[in-house]
Amino acid sequence: MLALWSGAVEIELRDDVYRRPLSTALDRLGLAEGWTCVDVGAGGGDVSVALAQMVGRDGRVYAVDVDPRRRDEIAALAAAHAQVLALSQAGEELTLPEQVDLAFCRFLLMHVAEPRRVLRRMAGAVRPGGWVVAQEPVTTAGRIGGRPLSMDGARDQDVGAVLPALVRDAGLVLVDAWAEAPAGAGPGPVAGYLEAMTGVDPGDEPVVLPPLVTVVARRPA
Ligand SMILES: C[S@@+](CC[C@H](N)C(=O)[O-])C[C@H]1O[C@@H](n2cnc3c(N)ncnc32)[C@H](O)[C@@H]1O
Repeated sequence: MLALWSGAVEIELRDDVYRRPLSTALDRLGLAEGWTCVDVGAGGGDVSVALAQMVGRDGRVYAVDVDPRRRDEIAALAAAHAQVLALSQAGEELTLPEQVDLAFCRFLLMHVAEPRRVLRRMAGAVRPGGWVVAQEPVTTAGRIGGRPLSMDGARDQDVGAVLPALVRDAGLVLVDAWAEAPAGAGPGPVAGYLEAMTGVDPGDEPVVLPPLVTVVARRPA
Protein backbone atom coordinates (compact mmCIF):
# COMPACT_ATOMS: atom_id res chain seq x y z
CA MET A 1 0.00 0.00 0.00
CA LEU A 2 1.29 3.48 -0.84
CA ALA A 3 1.29 6.04 1.97
CA LEU A 4 0.70 9.06 -0.20
CA TRP A 5 -1.51 11.31 1.82
CA SER A 6 0.23 14.04 3.76
CA GLY A 7 -2.62 14.95 6.09
CA ALA A 8 -2.40 18.60 5.02
CA VAL A 9 -5.70 19.62 3.52
CA GLU A 10 -6.25 21.98 0.63
CA ILE A 11 -9.92 22.70 1.04
CA GLU A 12 -10.34 24.63 -2.18
CA LEU A 13 -8.87 21.83 -4.30
CA ARG A 14 -10.91 19.24 -2.49
CA ASP A 15 -14.03 21.23 -3.17
CA ASP A 16 -13.30 21.16 -6.90
CA VAL A 17 -13.01 17.39 -7.15
CA TYR A 18 -15.56 16.45 -4.48
CA ARG A 19 -18.13 19.04 -5.55
CA ARG A 20 -20.27 16.48 -7.36
CA PRO A 21 -20.83 14.18 -4.34
CA LEU A 22 -21.73 17.27 -2.32
CA SER A 23 -24.27 18.56 -4.82
CA THR A 24 -25.71 15.04 -5.30
CA ALA A 25 -26.30 14.83 -1.56
CA LEU A 26 -27.85 18.30 -1.26
CA ASP A 27 -30.13 17.60 -4.24
CA ARG A 28 -31.14 14.25 -2.77
CA LEU A 29 -32.58 15.78 0.37
CA GLY A 30 -34.21 18.76 -1.33
CA LEU A 31 -32.32 21.48 0.56
CA ALA A 32 -34.15 24.73 -0.13
CA GLU A 33 -34.27 28.41 0.75
CA GLY A 34 -35.02 29.17 4.37
CA TRP A 35 -33.56 25.97 5.86
CA THR A 36 -31.42 26.09 8.99
CA CYS A 37 -28.27 23.94 8.85
CA VAL A 38 -25.16 23.04 10.78
CA ASP A 39 -21.87 22.07 9.11
CA VAL A 40 -19.90 20.14 11.74
CA GLY A 41 -16.12 20.11 11.26
CA ALA A 42 -16.53 22.99 8.83
CA GLY A 43 -12.77 23.42 8.22
CA GLY A 44 -12.17 25.84 5.35
CA GLY A 45 -15.91 26.22 4.95
CA ASP A 46 -16.60 24.91 1.45
CA VAL A 47 -19.65 23.00 2.63
CA SER A 48 -20.80 25.95 4.77
CA VAL A 49 -20.61 28.25 1.77
CA ALA A 50 -22.49 25.75 -0.45
CA LEU A 51 -25.19 25.44 2.21
CA ALA A 52 -25.39 29.22 2.59
CA GLN A 53 -25.81 29.65 -1.17
CA MET A 54 -28.72 27.23 -1.16
CA VAL A 55 -30.60 28.41 1.95
CA GLY A 56 -30.26 32.11 1.11
CA ARG A 57 -31.04 35.16 3.20
CA ASP A 58 -33.99 33.52 4.97
CA GLY A 59 -31.84 30.56 5.95
CA ARG A 60 -29.20 30.13 8.62
CA VAL A 61 -25.94 28.17 8.72
CA TYR A 62 -23.96 27.26 11.82
CA ALA A 63 -20.32 26.54 10.88
CA VAL A 64 -18.89 24.49 13.74
CA ASP A 65 -15.28 23.43 14.16
CA VAL A 66 -13.10 22.50 17.10
CA ASP A 67 -10.35 24.65 15.57
CA PRO A 68 -11.21 28.39 15.64
CA ARG A 69 -8.40 29.51 13.31
CA ARG A 70 -10.41 30.00 10.10
CA ARG A 71 -13.69 30.75 11.79
CA ASP A 72 -14.01 34.41 10.83
CA GLU A 73 -12.89 33.74 7.27
CA ILE A 74 -15.57 31.07 6.82
CA ALA A 75 -18.19 33.30 8.36
CA ALA A 76 -17.32 36.17 6.01
CA LEU A 77 -17.47 33.96 2.90
CA ALA A 78 -20.74 32.28 3.79
CA ALA A 79 -22.34 35.46 5.14
CA ALA A 80 -22.43 36.82 1.59
CA HIS A 81 -25.31 34.39 1.01
CA ALA A 82 -27.11 33.62 4.29
CA GLN A 83 -27.14 34.30 8.01
CA VAL A 84 -24.03 32.56 9.33
CA LEU A 85 -22.79 31.83 12.83
CA ALA A 86 -19.32 30.31 13.21
CA LEU A 87 -18.91 28.41 16.49
CA SER A 88 -15.80 26.86 18.04
CA GLN A 89 -17.09 23.58 19.39
CA ALA A 90 -16.23 19.89 19.32
CA GLY A 91 -18.75 17.78 17.45
CA GLU A 92 -18.89 15.52 20.52
CA GLU A 93 -20.32 18.48 22.48
CA LEU A 94 -22.41 20.01 19.68
CA THR A 95 -24.88 22.46 21.22
CA LEU A 96 -26.86 24.93 19.12
CA PRO A 97 -29.30 27.67 20.15
CA GLU A 98 -32.07 26.07 18.04
CA GLN A 99 -32.97 22.76 16.42
CA VAL A 100 -31.99 22.80 12.75
CA ASP A 101 -33.39 21.22 9.58
CA LEU A 102 -30.07 19.65 8.55
CA ALA A 103 -26.88 18.53 10.28
CA PHE A 104 -24.05 17.86 7.81
CA CYS A 105 -20.49 16.60 8.13
CA ARG A 106 -17.82 15.75 5.55
CA PHE A 107 -14.30 14.39 6.14
CA LEU A 108 -14.90 14.78 9.90
CA LEU A 109 -15.70 11.36 11.39
CA MET A 110 -12.43 9.95 10.02
CA HIS A 111 -10.65 12.29 12.50
CA VAL A 112 -12.67 11.73 15.67
CA ALA A 113 -12.24 9.08 18.36
CA GLU A 114 -15.95 8.47 18.83
CA PRO A 115 -17.86 8.93 15.57
CA ARG A 116 -21.07 7.49 17.05
CA ARG A 117 -21.01 10.17 19.73
CA VAL A 118 -20.68 12.94 17.13
CA LEU A 119 -23.50 11.44 15.08
CA ARG A 120 -25.72 11.22 18.16
CA ARG A 121 -25.10 14.93 18.85
CA MET A 122 -25.91 15.69 15.23
CA ALA A 123 -29.11 13.65 15.52
CA GLY A 124 -30.02 15.62 18.64
CA ALA A 125 -29.32 18.93 16.88
CA VAL A 126 -31.98 18.43 14.21
CA ARG A 127 -35.74 18.82 14.65
CA PRO A 128 -37.88 15.67 14.66
CA GLY A 129 -38.11 14.62 11.00
CA GLY A 130 -34.98 16.68 10.21
CA TRP A 131 -32.02 15.48 8.16
CA VAL A 132 -28.53 14.24 8.97
CA VAL A 133 -26.08 13.83 6.08
CA ALA A 134 -22.55 12.49 6.47
CA GLN A 135 -19.88 12.10 3.78
CA GLU A 136 -16.77 10.13 4.71
CA PRO A 137 -14.08 8.37 2.65
CA VAL A 138 -12.96 4.81 2.14
CA THR A 139 -9.38 5.94 1.67
CA THR A 140 -7.80 2.57 0.91
CA ALA A 141 -10.29 2.02 -1.92
CA GLY A 142 -8.57 4.93 -3.73
CA ARG A 143 -5.91 3.98 -6.28
CA ILE A 144 -2.89 5.46 -7.98
CA GLY A 145 -1.59 3.34 -10.81
CA GLY A 146 -3.75 0.54 -9.41
CA ARG A 147 -2.11 0.68 -5.98
CA PRO A 148 -4.13 1.51 -2.83
CA LEU A 149 -3.89 4.91 -1.16
CA SER A 150 -3.55 5.46 2.55
CA MET A 151 -3.76 8.46 4.85
CA ASP A 152 -1.39 8.83 7.75
CA GLY A 153 -2.86 10.73 10.65
CA ALA A 154 -6.53 9.86 10.31
CA ARG A 155 -8.03 7.91 13.19
CA ASP A 156 -10.07 5.81 10.78
CA GLN A 157 -9.18 6.42 7.15
CA ASP A 158 -11.87 3.95 6.02
CA VAL A 159 -14.72 5.10 8.25
CA GLY A 160 -16.90 5.52 5.15
CA ALA A 161 -17.03 1.73 4.88
CA VAL A 162 -19.07 1.50 8.09
CA LEU A 163 -20.88 4.83 7.86
CA PRO A 164 -24.41 3.49 7.24
CA ALA A 165 -24.19 1.35 10.38
CA LEU A 166 -22.78 4.22 12.46
CA VAL A 167 -25.66 6.44 11.37
CA ARG A 168 -28.23 3.73 12.14
CA ASP A 169 -26.62 3.14 15.55
CA ALA A 170 -27.07 6.86 16.29
CA GLY A 171 -30.85 6.29 16.21
CA LEU A 172 -31.41 7.74 12.74
CA VAL A 173 -33.52 6.32 9.92
CA LEU A 174 -31.46 5.59 6.80
CA VAL A 175 -33.01 7.12 3.69
CA ASP A 176 -30.22 6.57 1.15
CA ALA A 177 -26.53 5.73 0.97
CA TRP A 178 -24.03 5.51 -1.89
CA ALA A 179 -20.35 6.04 -2.80
CA GLU A 180 -18.78 8.29 -5.42
CA ALA A 181 -15.10 8.72 -6.37
CA PRO A 182 -13.48 11.30 -8.66
CA ALA A 183 -11.14 9.58 -11.13
CA GLY A 184 -8.80 10.60 -13.92
CA ALA A 185 -5.59 10.02 -15.84
CA GLY A 186 -2.98 12.57 -16.78
CA PRO A 187 -3.04 16.30 -16.00
CA GLY A 188 -6.32 17.66 -14.63
CA PRO A 189 -8.13 18.40 -11.38
CA VAL A 190 -7.82 14.86 -10.02
CA ALA A 191 -4.05 14.68 -10.57
CA GLY A 192 -3.69 18.25 -9.27
CA TYR A 193 -5.63 17.41 -6.13
CA LEU A 194 -3.52 14.33 -5.44
CA GLU A 195 -0.32 16.30 -5.98
CA ALA A 196 -1.47 19.07 -3.64
CA MET A 197 -2.35 16.53 -0.96
CA THR A 198 0.73 14.36 -1.24
CA GLY A 199 3.44 16.28 -3.06
CA VAL A 200 3.51 13.44 -5.60
CA ASP A 201 2.67 14.16 -9.25
CA PRO A 202 0.95 11.00 -10.54
CA GLY A 203 2.02 11.90 -14.10
CA ASP A 204 0.10 9.72 -16.54
CA GLU A 205 -0.81 7.10 -13.96
CA PRO A 206 -4.55 6.55 -13.52
CA VAL A 207 -5.91 7.89 -10.25
CA VAL A 208 -9.10 7.01 -8.39
CA LEU A 209 -9.44 9.32 -5.39
CA PRO A 210 -10.91 7.89 -2.17
CA PRO A 211 -14.60 7.15 -2.69
CA LEU A 212 -16.81 9.29 -0.50
CA VAL A 213 -19.67 7.38 1.11
CA THR A 214 -22.73 9.57 1.54
CA VAL A 215 -25.43 8.66 4.03
CA VAL A 216 -28.73 10.56 4.02
CA ALA A 217 -30.77 9.94 7.16
CA ARG A 218 -33.65 11.43 9.14
CA ARG A 219 -34.39 11.84 12.79
CA PRO A 220 -37.62 9.95 13.52
CA ALA A 221 -40.59 12.33 13.51
C1 LIG B 1 -10.50 17.40 6.86
S1 LIG B 1 -11.26 18.82 7.52
C2 LIG B 1 -12.84 18.82 6.70
C3 LIG B 1 -13.37 20.18 6.44
C4 LIG B 1 -14.71 20.26 5.74
N1 LIG B 1 -15.74 19.48 6.42
C5 LIG B 1 -14.64 19.86 4.30
O1 LIG B 1 -15.15 18.81 3.93
O2 LIG B 1 -14.04 20.61 3.52
C6 LIG B 1 -11.70 18.25 9.13
C7 LIG B 1 -12.11 19.36 10.04
O3 LIG B 1 -12.69 18.77 11.21
C8 LIG B 1 -12.27 19.50 12.33
N2 LIG B 1 -12.40 18.62 13.50
C9 LIG B 1 -11.59 17.60 13.85
N3 LIG B 1 -12.06 17.01 14.97
C10 LIG B 1 -13.20 17.67 15.30
C11 LIG B 1 -14.16 17.52 16.34
N4 LIG B 1 -14.03 16.55 17.25
N5 LIG B 1 -15.19 18.36 16.37
C12 LIG B 1 -15.34 19.35 15.45
N6 LIG B 1 -14.47 19.54 14.44
C13 LIG B 1 -13.41 18.71 14.37
C14 LIG B 1 -10.86 19.92 12.02
O4 LIG B 1 -10.47 21.06 12.78
C15 LIG B 1 -10.96 20.22 10.51
O5 LIG B 1 -11.27 21.57 10.29
